[in-house]
Amino acid sequence: MKIAVLKEQAEGELRVAATPETVKKFIKLGAEIAIETGAGETAHIADAEYSEAGAKIEARAPAIQGADIILGVQGAAPDSLKGVKKGAWLAASLNPFGERKRVDAYAELGIEALAMEFMPRITRAQSMDILSSQSNLSGYKAVLDAAAEYGRAFPMMMTAAGTVSAARCFVMGVGVAGLQAIATARRLGAQVSATDVRAATKEQIESLGAKAIFVEDVAGIEGEGTGGYATEMSDEYTKAQAELVSSHIAKQDIVITTALIPGRPAPRLISDAQIQTMKPGSVIVDLAVEQGGNVEGAVAGKVVEKHGVKIVGHKNVPSRLAADTSALFSRNIYNFLSAFWDEEKGGPVLDEEIGDAIRLTRDGQVVNERLLSEGA
Ligand code: NAI
Repeated sequence: MKIAVLKEQAEGELRVAATPETVKKFIKLGAEIAIETGAGETAHIADAEYSEAGAKIEARAPAIQGADIILGVQGAAPDSLKGVKKGAWLAASLNPFGERKRVDAYAELGIEALAMEFMPRITRAQSMDILSSQSNLSGYKAVLDAAAEYGRAFPMMMTAAGTVSAARCFVMGVGVAGLQAIATARRLGAQVSATDVRAATKEQIESLGAKAIFVEDVAGIEGEGTGGYATEMSDEYTKAQAELVSSHIAKQDIVITTALIPGRPAPRLISDAQIQTMKPGSVIVDLAVEQGGNVEGAVAGKVVEKHGVKIVGHKNVPSRLAADTSALFSRNIYNFLSAFWDEEKGGPVLDEEIGDAIRLTRDGQVVNERLLSEGA
């Protein structure tokens, strides 16, 4: 079983899909590992460290030659995979809805493309869930990015020259990233509040010592769909939420937005009119900027200023902590492949539940139900 690990080619992508730790573990399982030259450099892992762990360092063409499994953080350009073995797996975050043409090209190459972000949210797959591991660190980084742009301090400070008051930080969307943002802002000493459409998050917000800001007494308040994800809310709810948020936002110094609905554009949570009510010098970080944005006026890849408020829209936030996010991503991939390792076959054999959920292509066809039904 040969596993090849690609050097990422997408602009701004600094992560890598294997570390010396996971290389060693794969070798223990009996696999042979080829790392594309320089694959770990941007995540601070030298080729020599991979060699010491037992991997072979090669250019892309020889690395993928004869590989049974190819690992990446983002999907590789199909052209760069020419010569790949038919039936080989490509396991990465493949952005299936956004990169549909690529998925078709993977089918033409005859490979099995496995979209790691389609991992079902079931207990046994928690350790394989790249969305969780990467969002967690994004939530942390969003708060640090806000702190860096903010011209004031986060904690309350009593100095001989007087008192500095604590920053007020509001987190909108309390999934994995939001929970970590709450915890990080609290650690920095901010006064934290948070909101979500899923009623279950209220208790989680309070257990982290933050204040829960929730719409009450409106139909459809529970807001939770399949797999613990949010659903789109009714017009009535959206209006009530906007009113509640308006009065709250005007008093905030920092707002972190993380709201996503799978397969849909990100919900708009903050309008330009609401930004106008905020104090000059306040900072908004829009973690959903690449999915359409929660904040009006946010620009992917830029920090813009509107009405004296900075709106931070960094792209690929996990890549901004590439060493740690690579380590977690690599473990997710290892946990996934090793959980299905079949000793007799000397490689992984997927079961139906997980295989059908993440497999996009097989035998020259696009086979993924979710992509075929929702992605049309
Ligand atoms: P996500 O990244 O899809 O969305 C982020 C948050 O935005 C969610 O909490 C969502 O409810 C919220 N949101 C959506 N629309 C909103 C609106 N209009 N206003 C305010 N908030 C809005 O979600 P994420 O972080 O992936 O987690 C979703 C759930 O899945 C969580 O309950 C998490 O605990 C669960 N989960 C389960 C896993 C497993 O069992 N394997 C793994 C990871 C997460």
